[in-house]
Amino acid sequence: MSEAVADIEIRPINGRFGAEIIGLDLSHDLPEAEFRRIEQAWFDASFLVFRDLVMTPGQHIAFTRRFGPLHIMTPLHYNHPDHPEVMVLTNLEDGGKPLGIRRAGMGWHSDGEDKRLPNAGSFLYAHVVPPEGGDTLFADMYAAYETLPDTMKQRISGKRARFSRVDMHHVHYPHEPALTDQQKRERPDVYHPLVRTHPRSARRSLYIGRWARDVEGMDPGEGRALIEQLFAHASGEQFVYRHQWRRHDAVLWDNRCMLHSATPFDEARFTRLMHRTTLEGDVPV
Ligand code: SIN
Repeated sequence: MSEAVADIEIRPINGRFGAEIIGLDLSHDLPEAEFRRIEQAWFDASFLVFRDLVMTPGQHIAFTRRFGPLHIMTPLHYNHPDHPEVMVLTNLEDGGKPLGIRRAGMGWHSDGEDKRLPNAGSFLYAHVVPPEGGDTLFADMYAAYETLPDTMKQRISGKRARFSRVDMHHVHYPHEPALTDQQKRERPDVYHPLVRTHPRSARRSLYIGRWARDVEGMDPGEGRALIEQLFAHASGEQFVYRHQWRRHDAVLWDNRCMLHSATPFDEARFTRLMHRTTLEGDVPV
């Protein structure tokens, strides 16, 4: 059932997770009560799809900031030249110079999982979308955890995975320069629990991603096999929503209870230009 909040309509996407927000107009002040309804919908649904949202980078930043402090992505040269809070994801170039990061986010992950403080949420906005391809997949890690067999829940309880940018950068970003020694020092391996509890909902979710290499205290091969087994379960179609972008869609997702993955498109024929703001997070527990 959809719910009207002043001019804003909030409606479930598929009855499992996700909600659509229709009618948000950021050219007017959004009253606190309406913002709180949107925020609650985000916690309830894990991701929100805003349709036909026309916003400038400044409005994008200001709206995201209402959900919490912003994280500035590095390397800085992929951020908007006038707004470092906005990361630019695009295959566009100007005279051979990339205007943003290409092929970002391929493979299941949550933003910042390879950092000590992973990002709480991300808000991706479509400026230009290809006519085919370039969808984003989202997977519900609450449901993935809840549907694990009890034996698996016991096996992973209290265990931590090692997430390694240093080991995996060349795998996920083969088209990007190798990490410098300085970047390696800035992005050391981190350990996060395989099961984390959301600070707002208090629900447990499975916490894995493309930077997770192995499991603390386990033989590396055994840990890797365990992570792969968990991925095979978590990416089951019953947990996945595919977002086919329309221009001026914006999706706000919760990295603490979801995985997402970009998908390819024909970069030689089409353009994709997306802006992303990113929320600071906290240590997963
Ligand atoms: C991301 O991982 O933030 C990018 C997702 C996308 O561009 O589809």
